[in-house]
Amino acid sequence: MRNSTRTKFLIFGLVFVLGSALFLIWEDKLKLSQSLKSDDDHLLPGNLKVSFENNQNKKSLKYSDPDIGYDVPVDPAVITRLQGDLNFANERIKLLEEKLKSFEGGRISKKYPDVKFQNYRTKKRILITGGAGFVGSHLVDKLMLMGHEVTVVDNFFTGRKENVEHWFGHPNFEIIHQDIVTPLFVEVDEIYHLASPASPPHYMFNPVKTIKTNTIGTINMLGLAKRVGAKILFASTSEVYGDPEVHPQSETYWGHVNPIGPRACYDEAKRVGETLCYAYARHEKLNVRVARIFNTYGPRMHMNDGRVVSNFIIQALRNETITVYGLGNQTRSFQYVSDLVDGLMALMNSNYTLPVNLGNPLEHTILEFATIIKSLVGGEHAMKLTKAVEDDPQRRKPDIKRAKKYLDWEPKVSLNEGLKKTIEYFTIEVKRSDGHKVT
Ligand SMILES: NC(=O)c1ccc[n+]([C@@H]2O[C@H](COP(=O)([O-])OP(=O)(O)OC[C@H]3O[C@@H](n4cnc5c(N)ncnc54)[C@H](O)[C@@H]3O)[C@@H](O)[C@H]2O)c1
Repeated sequence: MRNSTRTKFLIFGLVFVLGSALFLIWEDKLKLSQSLKSDDDHLLPGNLKVSFENNQNKKSLKYSDPDIGYDVPVDPAVITRLQGDLNFANERIKLLEEKLKSFEGGRISKKYPDVKFQNYRTKKRILITGGAGFVGSHLVDKLMLMGHEVTVVDNFFTGRKENVEHWFGHPNFEIIHQDIVTPLFVEVDEIYHLASPASPPHYMFNPVKTIKTNTIGTINMLGLAKRVGAKILFASTSEVYGDPEVHPQSETYWGHVNPIGPRACYDEAKRVGETLCYAYARHEKLNVRVARIFNTYGPRMHMNDGRVVSNFIIQALRNETITVYGLGNQTRSFQYVSDLVDGLMALMNSNYTLPVNLGNPLEHTILEFATIIKSLVGGEHAMKLTKAVEDDPQRRKPDIKRAKKYLDWEPKVSLNEGLKKTIEYFTIEVKRSDGHKVT
């Protein structure tokens, strides 16, 4: 009797303890799930599940998905933080959704400069080879603003997408990444053929390629013009005069070029380019224009262009010594890029088919240039004379009578005005390339 009573007590006791323990566990889970109830729906995206575990008196929340699972201590602060993160993520999603809406219809909604309306009779389809380069990109801007359809073909050797990216997505604009040494098939009314490296370090980088671009590339463009009946303008250069023996240089002067010197790859290739234009004009009745371009400067010039204007400005902005090749008494005349663009368009639209000089006849010695740039940039800069460059022409000055007579064109932008704009541009470029933040 005593034994059976004890056993009953024992069983009753065990059942009570077990029952209480189960009750406590159940109550814990209930409390936990209730405390999380309001947040759970937001907290657990997709297939994530929450479950509660009570191992060795350590309560934990288990988030699990098919692949991963990790424990988070049950701490209201964690829940609050997660809720904060979630709110932040929701805000970001909302922003992205708004951005996505702007892509609707497959076009990036972007603000473009206002372009003029041209009707189907006046709107021209214009190809610009080398249109992502310094001169080409300014020509793109001008023709786009006039409301024409512009196609750029460029291999980005010295050109940059950045120069024309403000037109990306515009219905009148197209860009083709291609080397003009391979034939191109497009339907156009006019071709401005500018593709070619233009500064000595760039055209000497791969002399054979420079020759191919100006000869095979030019044949390809002339062939295209012939096929589609387009007018074509070839960007030639004052370098066809070499180191000139006459001064100033008029278009009737045949030049003084060293055919085997380091600059020959450019000078002679451009001379052959001109020859090709007139061979096509005579033989194929092609409508050609040839612009002999003199030194040009302005925004979007390449940082390592290696020519006088960019070299001097960059050295002055970096407070470096300004280096002058030779004695500095060799002369140059520089035209601002907008003047050149006006001249190229005037030539294309004229009926004049012989070569035309486009340049600014205002002549300065290199030392004078260095002094003008020094004073515009400000600050104290030392100047150093270094070894003269091989085949560097001593005097360069265009005779622009032809351009004045047949195109009614002459440069308008003063050296001071043009240099100020160029210095502004290089100030940003130098900061960028030196790793400074540009605001
Ligand atoms: N800037 C001047 O002072 C000057 C003077 C005389 C002549 N030019 C002539 O004007 C034209 C433009 O000169 P720039 O100063 O704008 O030079 P640039 O180097 O800035 O532009 C030339 C463009 O042609 C592209 N290009 C080069 N080879 C190519 C190829 N094989 N296929 C496709 N694209 C190619 C380059 O990537 C670049 O975008 C050149 O033909 C140059 O000879 C310029």
